[in-house]
Amino acid sequence: MKKILILGASGAIGRYLIDYFYERSSEWNIELITGDIRENSFVKERSSFFQMDVSNKESFEQLPKDIYAVIDLATFMPARMIGYDPKKYIDINIVGTYNILEFCKSNKVDRLLFGQTFGDILKHADKDPLLKVDLNPIQDYKDNKSVYISTMNASVELIKCYHSIFGIKTFIFRLPTIYNWDTDIYCENGELIKMAWQILVEQATKGEDIYVWGDPERKKDMVYVKDLCQMFFKACFVDRNYGFYNVGTGVGISLLDQIKGIISVFGDTNKSEIRFSPEMRNAPQYIMCIDEAKNELDYSPCYSYIEMLEDMKKERDLDRFH
Ligand SMILES: NC(=O)c1ccc[n+]([C@@H]2O[C@H](COP(=O)([O-])OP(=O)(O)OC[C@H]3O[C@@H](n4cnc5c(N)ncnc54)[C@H](O)[C@@H]3O)[C@@H](O)[C@H]2O)c1
Repeated sequence: MKKILILGASGAIGRYLIDYFYERSSEWNIELITGDIRENSFVKERSSFFQMDVSNKESFEQLPKDIYAVIDLATFMPARMIGYDPKKYIDINIVGTYNILEFCKSNKVDRLLFGQTFGDILKHADKDPLLKVDLNPIQDYKDNKSVYISTMNASVELIKCYHSIFGIKTFIFRLPTIYNWDTDIYCENGELIKMAWQILVEQATKGEDIYVWGDPERKKDMVYVKDLCQMFFKACFVDRNYGFYNVGTGVGISLLDQIKGIISVFGDTNKSEIRFSPEMRNAPQYIMCIDEAKNELDYSPCYSYIEMLEDMKKERDLDRFH
């Protein structure tokens, strides 16, 4: 029996990850251990849950010691921050990662998986939308996400140090926006807002006109949380010491096709009309190069864009993750 500890288990990605691992637990002989600062019934029903604060070293004392793998999603991101309190990024992302690494070292954990942000390289996409895994980080330091990104970069560097010095097997995943039916809060510049796709789904559901902002041909890699789960799962069992992977599908969906898809999946009989607003600002563009994940993890995305939307609709109706 392999004990897998998922930290940040009650989060948007964590809940799907618990579902994915739980469904495979008897076949793969997995025991799920989970930790988060907040409780979630869905997670508690499927794992041994520990309420804990990763920034507090003592929190780790309650955990079982014979852990095979740790998956660290217990970081703090700007999308969850109302106002601006950068100390949270330092405490949870850097100190939290250090505490997790010390836990791994002391308990001879076989491997650590970590969810890094693609914010470290996104600016490269202004010139070429294809983001390769080995691009050098560049940042817009004026952007208030820069402190978050810096703490995530620091965490990645710390993890690489512990991998090299103490031999902890290490798998780092660079995440773009991960699509899922997420009902948690979402913030931009410290203010609560709705995500663009949520607004589009609402408009399509009501049959309202939908405006395509800026260039309709800009393409984005729309990766579903269940494909990310596949990657994490494979990295738990792959016979390697180290991996650094972009998360994605490797395919770009144009803004126009994104909107057409949302109308066809979420629209009722009274379908939304598409209108164009070229004077509005462009949407972000990026496509994640996933060659390393394909070659080293045998990863193959299961969800096309439309299949992802259909599954999101199914999860909306099931409303399971409380
Ligand atoms: N979701 C995305 O699209 C995305 C994209 C890029 C990077 N990421 C990274 O992946 C992480 C996980 O993503 P998510 O969408 O599940 O985020 P989330 O905010 O929904 O989940 C994070 C979880 O960590 C928990 N947590 C926060 N502080 C903690 C602490 N001190 N101790 C223990 N648990 C704590 C939260 O309660 C939450 O359940 C993000 O924080 C972010 O750094 C996510």
